[in-house]
Amino acid sequence: MNILQKQIDNELSNFSIIALESNHDLENYLKTLESRYQLSSGILLNNFKAEAKEVFHFLYQDKHIVLLGLGKKPGFAEYLKAFRLYVHQNKNRLSGDIAIETMVSPENLEWTYKAALNGVLLGGYCIKLFKADKNGCAPFQGDKITRIVLQCDNKNDHWNQWIEETRQISETQMSIFDLVNSPSNKKYPQILANWAKNSGIKNGYSVDILDKAQCENKGLEALLAVSKGSENPPVFIIAQYLGNPGGPTIGLVGKGVTFDTGGISLKPSANMHMMKSDMGGAAAVLGTIDIAAKMNLKVNLVAIVPSTENTVDGLAIKPGDVIGSYSGKTIEVIDTDAEGRLILADGLSYIVKNFNPQIIIDLATLTGNCIMALGSAAAGMFSNDNEISASLENLGQTFGEKVWRLPLWDIYKEDMQSDIADIKNLSGKPVAGAITAAKFLEYFTEEHPKWVHLDIAGVAYTDNEFSMNRSGTSWGIRLLFEFLKSQTKK
Ligand code: BES
Ligand code: ZN
Ligand code: ZN
Repeated sequence: MNILQKQIDNELSNFSIIALESNHDLENYLKTLESRYQLSSGILLNNFKAEAKEVFHFLYQDKHIVLLGLGKKPGFAEYLKAFRLYVHQNKNRLSGDIAIETMVSPENLEWTYKAALNGVLLGGYCIKLFKADKNGCAPFQGDKITRIVLQCDNKNDHWNQWIEETRQISETQMSIFDLVNSPSNKKYPQILANWAKNSGIKNGYSVDILDKAQCENKGLEALLAVSKGSENPPVFIIAQYLGNPGGPTIGLVGKGVTFDTGGISLKPSANMHMMKSDMGGAAAVLGTIDIAAKMNLKVNLVAIVPSTENTVDGLAIKPGDVIGSYSGKTIEVIDTDAEGRLILADGLSYIVKNFNPQIIIDLATLTGNCIMALGSAAAGMFSNDNEISASLENLGQTFGEKVWRLPLWDIYKEDMQSDIADIKNLSGKPVAGAITAAKFLEYFTEEHPKWVHLDIAGVAYTDNEFSMNRSGTSWGIRLLFEFLKSQTKK
């Protein structure tokens, strides 16, 4: 499928989807459209206010013209969402040539068109992964949509680069939707490893997979302990992309629990099926290195994914067990359902000891408590670095993957003290669960000065227009991609 930028001319697309903001330019723009489409004066002005979610549709010379309202001061997220929703809801009607257009001034061209195109491409996503009848699936991979035109009178040299970047990130995001939406009988640790390997081969970065025996050799004892109850062996994925030889390295660690039953501290069954998404952190990390390599970003990345299932078995770890870890520190496992922090402990100390990255960011669907605090509006952020925190806050706000900082005060550390081991994996108190989890992780970062932990339990797998129930969001890929780009400009 061809995607290109074109001046606005007499050649009409089958569908022109035009996004409009309700600001002081709206009236003029509507007048322009009235004359372009030979409408009687005032007809748009009187019938369309560009309020959020407002959609206005008419035909001109048998072609569809669709106006999407975005309300006041929409950002990247609002543009993306409006286009994604419209395309998704109408994807079986859309065919042929599709044009997209925004009314913004030249300084906002880049992000509005990127967001609009990202929305159009993601809107084509089809969740029917395992349906026998894939009818109505993914029109953009078929031949129904022949071309997407970014319709705009502005001429500059960057359009192709904007289009290419957006096409690539959309592909990565959709591949990650599939990975997160896959059920645990089709997605176990080795499947994450295969995804990483394939991406590495395709995009030119190295991927080492430590199998169970190699994990034993290395002493990744906390990961091995969690995996003891599972028939599917664990893997420890180490991916490295060198885009800036000699420059600093950014380390990423993602929780790759392909299914979390809770282990012997079994979860209630009601929503347990959603725990196939407990690898949302791994998905974000793998997606990020994938897009960074595809776009040849001038950064060095090392991405680590400890991956296992957390299942029930006679060999599974039991509450009260004391386990070892890669760091050499011992852990009293009060609750086997607090397994994410155990495997991240090994991921974090491994990355510090072997790579010593300048910045470390970990992402994990870590606590239900974080969902209680923030819902699905933002991820919980914990960090010892104000500058990086501020940067992630700003980028998250701009690009619609928001983070909200929570404290890492030492007062919470006391709750994690164990009598018989170096630390325990669960606080004795039913409060501040997201924070005490972060304090547990901090213990394994070897006092690294620039560490960020993102608890993405509420944002990785949520209600959205792709599904009747929840589904994967690919949360974090856009945020981290923009963060990495900002690092290249430093
Ligand atoms: N994977 C869960 C956290 C989670 C819950 C993610 C809901 C997404 C949606 C994690 O491993 C877990 O079970 N956490 C427990 C921790 C508790 C035992 C301290 C929780 O949050 O209940
Ligand atoms: Zn758990
Ligand atoms: Zn979990």
